[in-house]
Amino acid sequence: MKKGRILSGMRPTGHLHLGNLIGALENWVRLQQDYECFYFVADWHALTTGYRETAAIDSYTREMVLDWLAAGIDPARSVIFVQSTIKQHAELHLLFSMITPLGWLERCPTYKEQLQQLAEREITTYGFLGYPVLQAADILIYRADAVPVGEDQLPHLELTREIARRFNYLYGEFFPEPQALLNRVTILPGLDGRKMSKSYDNCLYLSAAPDEIRQAVRGMITDPGRARRHDPGNPEVCTAFTYHRAFNPARIEEIDPSCREAKIGCVDCKKELAEAIVGYLAPFQARRRELLADPGYVDRVLAEGGERARAVAEETMKSVRRLVGLP
Ligand code: TRP
Ligand code: SF4
Repeated sequence: MKKGRILSGMRPTGHLHLGNLIGALENWVRLQQDYECFYFVADWHALTTGYRETAAIDSYTREMVLDWLAAGIDPARSVIFVQSTIKQHAELHLLFSMITPLGWLERCPTYKEQLQQLAEREITTYGFLGYPVLQAADILIYRADAVPVGEDQLPHLELTREIARRFNYLYGEFFPEPQALLNRVTILPGLDGRKMSKSYDNCLYLSAAPDEIRQAVRGMITDPGRARRHDPGNPEVCTAFTYHRAFNPARIEEIDPSCREAKIGCVDCKKELAEAIVGYLAPFQARRRELLADPGYVDRVLAEGGERARAVAEETMKSVRRLVGLP
C-alpha cells in the first residue's frame, strides 16, 4: 500500500549538478518506494523569468530528464512528464487566478526578492506575479498529499494551501491541502563555498568527466585559515570537508582529526575527495550513457508519462468545472 501521492517539479535548467542530486533528486528517488510519484518539468515556469531566451528549453528539458532517469527515477513506478503538454494545468491556473487576491501574490517573499535580483530581466509581468498560482495548479490538479521541495519553496506551498482553502470555501470541499516534505537540509555548497548555482559558475555537474571533477576539486575552497601545510586546519569551515561528508562518509572520522593535527595536507585530502566523487558518479554516468544510446527513449518516457498525467488532470478538471458551474 502506498502512503499517498507525491508531486514535484523542476524548471528545465539543463544538466543537473551535485547540489541538485544531494538536495532534491536523491530524495525523489527514495520517495518512489512509499509513494505514488508525479515528477514533471516546469517549462512554463521557466518562461516566467526567461521568456526572451526560449531556444534551449527543449534541449534543457531532455538533458534534465536524462539525469533524472540515470539517477533512478523509474518510469515504471513514477509518472514523468512535461508541464506544457498537460493543458489542464493552464485551465486550472486560469480559474485559480480569478479567486486569488493580488495582495497574496504581492506579499510573497520570493516575488519581492526576485523582482530585485532579476531587475534587468523585466519581470514586472502578469505571468511572473502569477508564478505561485501556476504552481498551485500543478500541485492541486493531481490532488497531491505532499510536495518534496527546498526551504525556498515554502511560501509557494503556503499559497497553494490558501488557494485550495479559498476554492473549497467558494465552490465546495474538494482539494486536499498538500504538505511540504522538506528536502535534506545539508545543502551542498558550490566550489567557492557560496550556494551552488549555475549563475555563480561554481557547480560540479553530474555528467562531468573524471578529469573535470579532479580539476574542479583541486580548485575547491578549503579552510581559509590554513595557509601552510603544517598549520592545523578546521574541517568545520572547509568546503571540501562538507563534500567528504556527502561523498566519502566512511572516512570523515579519520580525516577530521588528521586535518586538525595537520597530519594531512589539503592537496592530498582533495585528491582523495576527487576520487570519491568520481566513484560516486560512475554508476550514474554509466547508466546515462546507456540511456543515451537509445535516442528515442526520453521522448517515449515523456509521452507515456504525459498520457498518465493527462488522464488524472482531466479527471480533476471534470469535477472542478462542475463545482464552478461551467459546462
Ligand atoms: N517553483 C519550483 C522551483 O523553482 C518548481 C515548481 C513548479 C514546482 N511547479 C511546482 C515544485 C510544483 C513543486 C511542485 O523549484
Ligand atoms: Fe579541508 Fe581537508 Fe584541508 Fe582539512 S585537510 S582544510 S578537511 S581540505
